[in-house]
Amino acid sequence: MAGARLQCVTRGMGVGLLAAGAFVTLSDPSRAAESAAKPVTFAKDVAPILQEKCEACHRKGSMAPMSLVTYEETRPWAKSIKERVVSRQMPPWHIDKTVGIQQFQNDRSLSDDQIITIERWVDSGAPLGDVRDMPPPKQWPDEQGWQLAKQFGPPDLVLKSEPYTMPAHGQDVWWKPLTEVPLTEPRWVRAVEIRPATPAGRRITHHVLARLLQEEPDAPVNPGRLNTGDDSNTGGANNAGLLMEWAVGKNYDIYRPNTGKLLLPGARIWWELHLHAVGEPIRDHAELAVYLYPKGETPKYRTYLTLFGATANTSARLDIPPNTVTETQAFHVLKAPARLENFQPHMHLRGKAMSIEAILPDGSTQMLSYVNNFNFNWMTNYIYADDAAPVLPKGTIVHVTAWHDNTAANRNNPDPEQWVGYGDRTVDEMAHAWVNVTYISEDDYKEWAAKHKPKRPAPAALQ
Ligand code: HEC
Repeated sequence: MAGARLQCVTRGMGVGLLAAGAFVTLSDPSRAAESAAKPVTFAKDVAPILQEKCEACHRKGSMAPMSLVTYEETRPWAKSIKERVVSRQMPPWHIDKTVGIQQFQNDRSLSDDQIITIERWVDSGAPLGDVRDMPPPKQWPDEQGWQLAKQFGPPDLVLKSEPYTMPAHGQDVWWKPLTEVPLTEPRWVRAVEIRPATPAGRRITHHVLARLLQEEPDAPVNPGRLNTGDDSNTGGANNAGLLMEWAVGKNYDIYRPNTGKLLLPGARIWWELHLHAVGEPIRDHAELAVYLYPKGETPKYRTYLTLFGATANTSARLDIPPNTVTETQAFHVLKAPARLENFQPHMHLRGKAMSIEAILPDGSTQMLSYVNNFNFNWMTNYIYADDAAPVLPKGTIVHVTAWHDNTAANRNNPDPEQWVGYGDRTVDEMAHAWVNVTYISEDDYKEWAAKHKPKRPAPAALQ
């Protein structure tokens, strides 16, 4: 579908190095031809892009395999950079740019212009240019302090996971210890920050999840039950809402105004540290800083981390035969008006794509988000910008569709000859989206709807 709208951009430049399958969305092809006259250099044009969009991960001591800070470090990677950038694999941001909501709080993707600049730079021999054009080196904040301390002061709680020693070599490890949350009364959370404890730990840490385990017999709405047709979805591990996740570029969450998460006495954090070996043994733990609303202050809205399955029952009906691409889907009725704060698809090695759509009570359908290029290495959480987060009426059906690619065409696939079903191991599969759902009142919904009268494009404009 999207292919029809994409255009090959280098054609007008007479360079002809473009690999098949390399595309960029470009609204005005004449712009590329026009700017083709100006030489593109590392110093003037490319270094600022790398500083803005790559250095967060591609610098010494960070998670990526190589530094892209200086010309000398970057030049040997030029060809690979072009390939990853033009196919939109780097920076990791795998959402389809042609459908659904496009405003996010944490968008790290490149603009069309930035992609064209990088591509032209590589195609013209990746020149340095005039060193006097180089931007001053980017200063990175000291990652040893809590970043939210500037805004909120010292955290109210710091929770630490049990440490783990990752050996020099070996398979990836998913370390899942438990930590008690020391609270004697219910408290509301306004912000959370998470990190591997040391810079060395950052090198072995792919991601950290802090799931929240707590019993909620009197909850006004049980998030699991509210949104899934099947009670088995509320038990065991699936009852664990995600409190926070660490991945490079995602360090903290501040909930929207008057909104929070509720922590109850007896709550526990169930960690998941996805660790990988880097050639030397490293021991580290993860830390979670929790910032609470003042005692007695209750935000109006509660956010529930909710699992929207792409199968009617999380653990059943995932049936992926060898050498096939499968599609599974499920429907979840919102029993109260709600704002969806984010979209985080979760699948394993065969994961290929996932979409989330809203089927409104009037029968119309809105594509909210579509990750068309899912990559198991990147469990990106797409957080909608304040004005873009969809607010949906009671009775809306949330429709989640997942695609798994169990063929040899999937580069992550360890064995296309295997039948695959549901399970925890990465060689098993899952298919669900994690969404922070904030329920609002009917009155709030009416107020919101009055301010946001539907601006549906005429049918002709959709083509
Ligand atoms: C969020 C962190 C992050 C950001 C931002 C990021 N990268 Fe990466 N990059 C990685 C990691 C980790 C890998 C290795 C794993 C992989 O390939 O997915 C990687 C791999 C690559 C590779 C392949 C290296 C190889 O071994 O062949 C290239 C090229 C690359 N990145 C270029 C870029 C460029 C250019 C940018 C900015 C426009 C960028 N990356 C932004 C983390 C990042």
